[in-house]
Amino acid sequence: MRAVVHDRYGPPEVLRVAEVERPVPKEGEVLVSVHASTVTRSDTGLRSAEYPFTRLITGIRRPKRTIAGWEFAGCVEDIGAAVTDFRVGDEVFGIEGGATAEYVAVRESGVIAQKPTGLTYEEAAAVPDGSLLALTCLRRASPLRGKSVLVYGAAGSIGTGAVQLLARHFEAEVSAVCDTKDVERVGSLGARDVLDRLREDFTKTGATYDVIFDAVGKHSFRRCRRSLKPRGIYISVDLGFMYHVPLVALTTRFLGSKRAKLGIGRYRKDDLLLIKELVDTGKYRPVIDRTYALDEIVEATRYVESGQKTGNVVLHVRASPEPYI
Ligand SMILES: NC(=O)c1ccc[n+]([C@@H]2O[C@H](COP(=O)([O-])OP(=O)(O)OC[C@H]3O[C@@H](n4cnc5c(N)ncnc54)[C@H](OP(=O)(O)O)[C@@H]3O)[C@@H](O)[C@H]2O)c1
Repeated sequence: MRAVVHDRYGPPEVLRVAEVERPVPKEGEVLVSVHASTVTRSDTGLRSAEYPFTRLITGIRRPKRTIAGWEFAGCVEDIGAAVTDFRVGDEVFGIEGGATAEYVAVRESGVIAQKPTGLTYEEAAAVPDGSLLALTCLRRASPLRGKSVLVYGAAGSIGTGAVQLLARHFEAEVSAVCDTKDVERVGSLGARDVLDRLREDFTKTGATYDVIFDAVGKHSFRRCRRSLKPRGIYISVDLGFMYHVPLVALTTRFLGSKRAKLGIGRYRKDDLLLIKELVDTGKYRPVIDRTYALDEIVEATRYVESGQKTGNVVLHVRASPEPYI
């Protein structure tokens, strides 16, 4: 099968499309014929070993897993003997390491679910990463119902997920900050008001919020502090300059009424099922910026690394759905 592989850490150019062995599903696994995958910031961070400590998990000298990618949408091609929840021909989506390939084997109990019926494979592939990371990071400020929440970096993958989840799942009052080109799109996701970060600095408007969610890790707690209400919570998705966010989080546990927290995203099956339900009921929709062919992996990755994408970047893995009898 064709897959995007990288044998070493480095720039986008270490990625290439190669022929590799097709996985065989084990007892409790399903084999998914992948139609669409994505390039995420997690992919780029792990490939470049942006944070050197991630090598403790991914491989010290070279990557242990050579096939790239996490998000997938496709069709179940084969199932292991112990699989009960999926059948050959099911349309599925989810998260699994090594997903940017024509086939990926996924544990039935893993982060995989039936694809929302109203979405194409390309649209479905763009859902799990941003939505699940936003959901798990935002839970750190629960309960959120009726709270005023500002999302900074609202046009990114996590940001567009956060705005929709806050407005339509958590029932919070969302203010969003993004760049001029994304104001209209972000407004359509349920934000009560959208600030153009190139024209206005939200820390200087005098408005205060119960929660500030920095969905791109570009605004420090120190700069956001005055924009937080008493007992307000700041959450960042990033460790920050010199990894200071965990330290500030620890300090604010004991000093002052305003808290800083590090949002650590997690991928969980139960949450994917929740997101599927939100998509099926019209409360969540994928935001796609560009779609690339598998062979354009280097170009797609360079674009994602520019930090300028709106929502998600999709990879077209298989030309058209194969008929299943
Ligand atoms: N905590 C976790 O568990 C976890 C997991 C995965 C990833 N992450 C991190 O989460 C971050 C966001 O991921 P993502 O996939 O959502 O990113 P993304 O989609 O690449 O974010 C792109 C958006 O960021 C905005 N942006 C870029 N520079 C900005 C700046 N200086 N100020 C404000 N906005 C800026 C851009 O908006 P404009 O058009 O406004 O420039 C663009 O729309 C990444 O840093 C990633 O490493 C965290």
